[in-house]
Amino acid sequence: MVGSGFLCNFAAMEASEYHIPVLLHPSVDGLNIRKDGIYVDVTLGGGGHSREILSHLSPAGHLFSFDQDKDAITRAQCTECPANWTLVQSNFRYLKNWMRYYGIEAIDGLLADLGVSSHHLDEGDRGFSFRTDAPLDMRMNQLARQTAADVVNSYSREQLRTIFRLYGELHQGNRLAEAIIKARGERPIQTTGQLQQLLTPLLGRDREKKDLARAFQALRIEVNHEMDALRDMLTAATELLSPGGRLVVMSYHSLEDRIVKNVMRAGNFDGDVQQDIYGNSHSPLRPVGKPVTPTAEEQASNPRSRSARLRVAEKVDG
Ligand SMILES: C[S@@+](CC[C@H](N)C(=O)[O-])C[C@H]1O[C@@H](n2cnc3c(N)ncnc32)[C@H](O)[C@@H]1O
Repeated sequence: MVGSGFLCNFAAMEASEYHIPVLLHPSVDGLNIRKDGIYVDVTLGGGGHSREILSHLSPAGHLFSFDQDKDAITRAQCTECPANWTLVQSNFRYLKNWMRYYGIEAIDGLLADLGVSSHHLDEGDRGFSFRTDAPLDMRMNQLARQTAADVVNSYSREQLRTIFRLYGELHQGNRLAEAIIKARGERPIQTTGQLQQLLTPLLGRDREKKDLARAFQALRIEVNHEMDALRDMLTAATELLSPGGRLVVMSYHSLEDRIVKNVMRAGNFDGDVQQDIYGNSHSPLRPVGKPVTPTAEEQASNPRSRSARLRVAEKVDG
Protein backbone atom coordinates (compact mmCIF):
# COMPACT_ATOMS: atom_id res chain seq x y z
CA MET A 1 0.00 0.00 0.00
CA VAL A 2 1.42 3.36 -1.00
CA GLY A 3 1.77 5.79 1.84
CA SER A 4 2.40 3.40 4.70
CA GLY A 5 5.64 3.61 6.66
CA PHE A 6 6.74 6.97 5.26
CA LEU A 7 5.89 9.35 8.04
CA CYS A 8 9.34 9.30 9.66
CA ASN A 9 8.98 12.27 11.97
CA PHE A 10 5.31 11.52 12.48
CA ALA A 11 6.41 8.29 14.06
CA ALA A 12 8.18 10.19 16.85
CA MET A 13 4.84 11.45 18.04
CA GLU A 14 1.53 9.66 17.80
CA ALA A 15 -0.67 11.45 15.25
CA SER A 16 -3.39 11.68 17.89
CA GLU A 17 -1.05 13.62 20.21
CA TYR A 18 -0.85 16.38 17.61
CA HIS A 19 -4.41 16.25 16.32
CA ILE A 20 -7.08 13.58 16.02
CA PRO A 21 -8.44 13.76 12.46
CA VAL A 22 -12.14 14.68 12.37
CA LEU A 23 -14.62 12.87 10.08
CA LEU A 24 -11.65 11.07 8.54
CA HIS A 25 -13.44 8.50 6.39
CA PRO A 26 -16.49 10.53 5.29
CA SER A 27 -14.20 13.37 4.21
CA VAL A 28 -11.68 11.24 2.31
CA ASP A 29 -14.54 9.20 0.78
CA GLY A 30 -16.00 12.55 -0.33
CA LEU A 31 -12.92 13.09 -2.50
CA ASN A 32 -13.85 10.01 -4.52
CA ILE A 33 -10.13 9.44 -5.11
CA ARG A 34 -8.76 8.28 -8.44
CA LYS A 35 -5.50 6.54 -7.65
CA ASP A 36 -3.53 8.43 -10.29
CA GLY A 37 -5.16 11.81 -9.64
CA ILE A 38 -3.75 15.07 -8.27
CA TYR A 39 -5.03 16.03 -4.83
CA VAL A 40 -4.44 18.87 -2.39
CA ASP A 41 -4.86 18.80 1.39
CA VAL A 42 -4.66 22.50 2.24
CA THR A 43 -4.60 21.87 6.01
CA LEU A 44 -1.94 19.27 6.84
CA GLY A 45 -2.01 19.71 10.65
CA GLY A 46 -1.12 16.35 12.22
CA GLY A 47 -1.30 14.68 8.80
CA GLY A 48 -4.26 12.37 9.50
CA HIS A 49 -6.14 13.27 6.33
CA SER A 50 -3.00 13.49 4.18
CA ARG A 51 -1.89 10.06 5.33
CA GLU A 52 -5.29 8.59 4.41
CA ILE A 53 -5.33 10.28 0.99
CA LEU A 54 -1.82 9.00 0.22
CA SER A 55 -2.85 5.46 1.09
CA HIS A 56 -5.32 5.61 -1.85
CA LEU A 57 -2.82 6.94 -4.42
CA SER A 58 -0.57 5.02 -6.78
CA PRO A 59 2.94 6.35 -7.55
CA ALA A 60 1.37 8.09 -10.57
CA GLY A 61 -0.95 10.10 -8.32
CA HIS A 62 0.20 13.12 -6.31
CA LEU A 63 -0.70 14.87 -3.08
CA PHE A 64 0.25 18.44 -2.16
CA SER A 65 -0.13 19.16 1.57
CA PHE A 66 -0.19 22.77 2.71
CA ASP A 67 0.18 24.28 6.16
CA GLN A 68 1.18 27.79 7.12
CA ASP A 69 2.46 26.56 10.47
CA LYS A 70 6.13 25.62 10.53
CA ASP A 71 5.51 23.04 13.31
CA ALA A 72 3.14 20.99 11.12
CA ILE A 73 5.51 21.02 8.13
CA THR A 74 8.66 20.29 10.16
CA ARG A 75 6.99 17.36 11.84
CA ALA A 76 5.96 15.84 8.51
CA GLN A 77 9.28 16.35 6.70
CA CYS A 78 11.39 13.26 6.20
CA THR A 79 14.06 11.93 3.91
CA GLU A 80 12.06 8.90 2.83
CA CYS A 81 8.81 10.63 1.97
CA PRO A 82 7.13 9.12 -1.08
CA ALA A 83 7.96 10.90 -4.32
CA ASN A 84 4.26 11.56 -4.90
CA TRP A 85 3.94 13.80 -1.83
CA THR A 86 4.87 17.49 -1.72
CA LEU A 87 4.77 19.60 1.43
CA VAL A 88 4.12 23.31 1.02
CA GLN A 89 4.68 25.70 3.92
CA SER A 90 2.34 28.50 2.95
CA ASN A 91 -1.02 30.05 3.54
CA PHE A 92 -3.56 28.19 1.41
CA ARG A 93 -4.77 31.50 -0.01
CA TYR A 94 -1.77 31.27 -2.38
CA LEU A 95 -2.91 27.88 -3.72
CA LYS A 96 -3.10 29.04 -7.32
CA ASN A 97 0.42 30.52 -7.33
CA TRP A 98 1.84 27.32 -5.86
CA MET A 99 0.05 25.10 -8.36
CA ARG A 100 1.42 27.30 -11.15
CA TYR A 101 4.89 27.02 -9.59
CA TYR A 102 4.64 23.22 -9.68
CA GLY A 103 3.27 23.24 -13.23
CA ILE A 104 -0.17 21.94 -12.19
CA GLU A 105 -3.03 23.23 -14.33
CA ALA A 106 -5.86 21.21 -12.83
CA ILE A 107 -6.54 19.13 -9.72
CA ASP A 108 -8.89 16.21 -9.05
CA GLY A 109 -9.77 17.06 -5.48
CA LEU A 110 -9.08 19.36 -2.57
CA LEU A 111 -9.69 18.83 1.14
CA ALA A 112 -9.78 21.61 3.73
CA ASP A 113 -10.14 20.98 7.47
CA LEU A 114 -10.38 24.56 8.69
CA GLY A 115 -9.22 26.29 11.85
CA VAL A 116 -6.53 25.34 14.34
CA SER A 117 -5.17 21.94 15.32
CA SER A 118 -5.15 20.54 18.86
CA HIS A 119 -1.40 21.21 18.79
CA HIS A 120 -2.11 24.95 18.65
CA LEU A 121 -4.41 24.80 21.66
CA ASP A 122 -2.20 22.40 23.62
CA GLU A 123 1.06 24.32 23.08
CA GLY A 124 0.44 26.94 25.74
CA ASP A 125 3.17 29.30 24.57
CA ARG A 126 1.44 29.86 21.20
CA GLY A 127 -1.14 31.97 23.06
CA PHE A 128 -4.26 30.37 21.50
CA SER A 129 -5.76 29.16 24.77
CA PHE A 130 -6.67 30.72 28.10
CA ARG A 131 -5.73 27.48 29.86
CA THR A 132 -2.07 28.63 29.97
CA ASP A 133 -0.83 32.10 30.77
CA ALA A 134 1.33 33.07 27.79
CA PRO A 135 2.06 35.99 25.46
CA LEU A 136 -1.06 36.91 23.49
CA ASP A 137 0.12 35.60 20.12
CA MET A 138 -2.32 33.29 18.20
CA ARG A 139 -0.43 33.38 14.89
CA MET A 140 -0.67 30.13 12.93
CA ASN A 141 2.16 31.41 10.76
CA GLN A 142 4.91 32.24 13.26
CA LEU A 143 6.39 34.77 10.79
CA ALA A 144 3.20 36.79 10.33
CA ARG A 145 3.45 40.35 11.59
CA GLN A 146 0.21 40.80 13.52
CA THR A 147 -0.33 39.09 16.88
CA ALA A 148 -3.43 39.01 19.08
CA ALA A 149 -1.70 41.54 21.37
CA ASP A 150 -1.46 43.92 18.37
CA VAL A 151 -5.19 43.50 17.74
CA VAL A 152 -6.34 44.12 21.33
CA ASN A 153 -3.94 47.03 21.84
CA SER A 154 -4.47 48.88 18.56
CA TYR A 155 -7.94 48.18 17.13
CA SER A 156 -10.74 50.71 17.62
CA ARG A 157 -13.72 50.08 19.91
CA GLU A 158 -15.89 49.53 16.82
CA GLN A 159 -13.48 47.03 15.24
CA LEU A 160 -13.19 45.03 18.47
CA ARG A 161 -16.95 45.01 18.94
CA THR A 162 -17.47 43.70 15.40
CA ILE A 163 -14.87 40.96 15.87
CA PHE A 164 -16.47 39.69 19.09
CA ARG A 165 -19.97 39.84 17.64
CA LEU A 166 -19.23 38.44 14.20
CA TYR A 167 -16.49 35.91 14.83
CA GLY A 168 -17.28 35.10 18.46
CA GLU A 169 -21.09 35.35 18.11
CA LEU A 170 -21.04 37.11 21.50
CA HIS A 171 -23.88 39.51 22.26
CA GLN A 172 -21.63 41.21 24.88
CA GLY A 173 -19.31 42.46 22.10
CA ASN A 174 -19.82 46.05 23.11
CA ARG A 175 -18.94 45.54 26.76
CA LEU A 176 -15.91 43.41 25.92
CA ALA A 177 -14.58 46.07 23.54
CA GLU A 178 -15.23 48.79 26.11
CA ALA A 179 -13.34 46.88 28.83
CA ILE A 180 -10.35 46.33 26.53
CA ILE A 181 -10.14 50.02 25.57
CA LYS A 182 -10.30 51.05 29.24
CA ALA A 183 -7.72 48.49 30.45
CA ARG A 184 -5.18 49.14 27.71
CA GLY A 185 -5.30 52.86 28.58
CA GLU A 186 -3.69 51.90 31.89
CA ARG A 187 -1.24 49.29 30.60
CA PRO A 188 -0.93 47.19 27.41
CA ILE A 189 -2.68 43.79 27.40
CA GLN A 190 0.16 41.38 26.70
CA THR A 191 -0.87 37.95 27.99
CA THR A 192 -3.70 35.44 27.72
CA GLY A 193 -4.00 35.61 31.52
CA GLN A 194 -4.53 39.38 31.49
CA LEU A 195 -7.19 39.06 28.81
CA GLN A 196 -8.92 36.23 30.64
CA GLN A 197 -9.05 38.24 33.90
CA LEU A 198 -10.42 41.22 32.05
CA LEU A 199 -13.15 39.43 30.09
CA THR A 200 -14.34 36.77 32.57
CA PRO A 201 -16.43 39.08 34.82
CA LEU A 202 -18.32 40.29 31.73
CA LEU A 203 -19.38 36.84 30.57
CA GLY A 204 -22.45 34.82 31.58
CA ARG A 205 -21.70 32.98 34.87
CA ASP A 206 -23.06 29.66 33.67
CA ARG A 207 -21.19 29.77 30.35
CA GLU A 208 -18.01 31.58 31.28
CA LYS A 209 -15.62 29.05 29.73
CA LYS A 210 -17.66 28.68 26.54
CA ASP A 211 -17.89 32.43 26.02
CA LEU A 212 -14.22 32.92 26.83
CA ALA A 213 -13.38 30.27 24.22
CA ARG A 214 -15.53 32.20 21.74
CA ALA A 215 -13.80 35.50 22.55
CA PHE A 216 -10.40 33.85 22.01
CA GLN A 217 -11.66 32.21 18.79
CA ALA A 218 -12.85 35.60 17.54
CA LEU A 219 -9.41 37.15 18.02
CA ARG A 220 -7.72 34.15 16.41
CA ILE A 221 -9.92 34.43 13.31
CA GLU A 222 -9.00 38.12 13.02
CA VAL A 223 -5.26 37.63 13.68
CA ASN A 224 -5.02 34.99 10.95
CA HIS A 225 -7.43 36.68 8.48
CA GLU A 226 -9.19 33.35 8.29
CA MET A 227 -12.29 34.47 6.38
CA ASP A 228 -10.29 36.24 3.66
CA ALA A 229 -7.97 33.25 3.28
CA LEU A 230 -10.98 30.93 3.00
CA ARG A 231 -12.60 33.06 0.27
CA ASP A 232 -9.34 33.22 -1.72
CA MET A 233 -8.77 29.48 -1.40
CA LEU A 234 -12.34 28.56 -2.43
CA THR A 235 -12.10 30.81 -5.49
CA ALA A 236 -8.80 29.23 -6.53
CA ALA A 237 -10.05 25.69 -5.83
CA THR A 238 -13.18 26.23 -7.93
CA GLU A 239 -11.03 27.35 -10.86
CA LEU A 240 -8.46 24.58 -10.49
CA LEU A 241 -10.81 21.60 -10.16
CA SER A 242 -11.23 19.41 -13.25
CA PRO A 243 -14.79 18.48 -14.25
CA GLY A 244 -15.92 15.79 -11.81
CA GLY A 245 -13.24 16.91 -9.30
CA ARG A 246 -14.29 17.17 -5.66
CA LEU A 247 -14.13 19.95 -3.10
CA VAL A 248 -14.36 18.71 0.51
CA VAL A 249 -14.49 21.22 3.36
CA MET A 250 -14.88 20.80 7.12
CA SER A 251 -15.76 23.99 8.93
CA TYR A 252 -16.20 24.72 12.63
CA HIS A 253 -17.89 28.10 12.60
CA SER A 254 -21.26 29.17 11.17
CA LEU A 255 -19.74 32.04 9.19
CA GLU A 256 -17.20 29.75 7.54
CA ASP A 257 -19.89 27.19 6.84
CA ARG A 258 -22.13 29.79 5.19
CA ILE A 259 -19.31 30.85 2.85
CA VAL A 260 -18.59 27.22 1.97
CA LYS A 261 -22.29 26.42 1.43
CA ASN A 262 -22.81 29.43 -0.84
CA VAL A 263 -19.75 28.66 -2.96
CA MET A 264 -20.78 25.01 -3.31
CA ARG A 265 -24.36 25.92 -4.30
CA ALA A 266 -23.88 29.05 -6.34
CA GLY A 267 -20.17 29.49 -7.06
CA ASN A 268 -20.16 32.83 -5.22
CA PHE A 269 -20.09 34.10 -1.61
CA ASP A 270 -23.66 35.46 -1.61
CA GLY A 271 -25.30 32.20 -2.60
CA ASP A 272 -27.21 33.77 -5.53
CA VAL A 273 -27.50 31.09 -8.18
CA GLN A 274 -27.15 32.60 -11.67
CA GLN A 275 -29.52 30.96 -14.13
CA ASP A 276 -29.96 31.15 -17.89
CA ILE A 277 -33.35 31.93 -19.46
CA TYR A 278 -34.28 28.23 -19.24
CA GLY A 279 -33.64 28.16 -15.50
CA ASN A 280 -30.41 26.14 -15.78
CA SER A 281 -27.88 26.88 -13.04
CA HIS A 282 -24.58 28.48 -14.05
CA SER A 283 -22.85 27.43 -10.86
CA PRO A 284 -19.46 25.79 -11.49
CA LEU A 285 -20.07 23.41 -8.56
CA ARG A 286 -22.90 21.17 -7.45
CA PRO A 287 -23.30 19.98 -3.85
CA VAL A 288 -22.90 16.24 -3.30
CA GLY A 289 -25.14 14.76 -0.58
CA LYS A 290 -26.14 16.51 2.64
CA PRO A 291 -23.78 18.13 5.16
CA VAL A 292 -22.27 15.55 7.52
CA THR A 293 -21.63 16.04 11.25
CA PRO A 294 -19.67 13.72 13.57
CA THR A 295 -21.59 10.86 15.17
CA ALA A 296 -22.31 10.99 18.92
CA GLU A 297 -19.56 8.39 19.30
CA GLU A 298 -16.95 10.54 17.50
CA GLN A 299 -18.00 13.61 19.49
CA ALA A 300 -17.62 11.68 22.74
CA SER A 301 -14.18 10.31 21.86
CA ASN A 302 -12.98 13.61 20.33
CA PRO A 303 -14.84 16.58 21.85
CA ARG A 304 -13.01 18.97 19.49
CA SER A 305 -14.99 17.45 16.62
CA ARG A 306 -18.27 18.71 18.09
CA SER A 307 -18.87 21.73 15.89
CA ALA A 308 -17.55 20.16 12.66
CA ARG A 309 -19.67 20.26 9.51
CA LEU A 310 -18.49 18.53 6.35
CA ARG A 311 -19.65 19.61 2.91
CA VAL A 312 -18.76 18.08 -0.45
CA ALA A 313 -19.21 19.51 -3.94
CA GLU A 314 -18.31 18.41 -7.46
CA LYS A 315 -17.10 20.56 -10.33
CA VAL A 316 -19.64 20.44 -13.13
CA ASP A 317 -18.78 19.78 -16.75
CA GLY A 318 -18.33 22.73 -19.07
C1 LIG B 1 -7.86 21.46 11.90
S1 LIG B 1 -6.16 21.42 11.54
C2 LIG B 1 -6.02 20.17 10.32
C3 LIG B 1 -5.88 18.81 10.91
C4 LIG B 1 -5.57 17.73 9.92
N1 LIG B 1 -6.65 17.54 8.98
C5 LIG B 1 -5.26 16.43 10.63
O1 LIG B 1 -5.91 15.44 10.34
O2 LIG B 1 -4.37 16.42 11.48
C6 LIG B 1 -5.94 22.85 10.57
C7 LIG B 1 -4.52 23.08 10.11
O3 LIG B 1 -4.58 23.97 9.02
C8 LIG B 1 -3.63 24.98 9.16
N2 LIG B 1 -4.22 26.17 8.55
C9 LIG B 1 -5.28 26.88 8.95
N3 LIG B 1 -5.52 27.91 8.13
C10 LIG B 1 -4.56 27.85 7.16
C11 LIG B 1 -4.26 28.65 6.01
N4 LIG B 1 -4.99 29.73 5.71
N5 LIG B 1 -3.24 28.27 5.25
C12 LIG B 1 -2.49 27.18 5.54
N6 LIG B 1 -2.70 26.41 6.63
C13 LIG B 1 -3.73 26.74 7.42
C14 LIG B 1 -3.39 25.13 10.64
O4 LIG B 1 -2.09 25.59 10.87
C15 LIG B 1 -3.61 23.70 11.15
O5 LIG B 1 -2.40 22.99 11.22
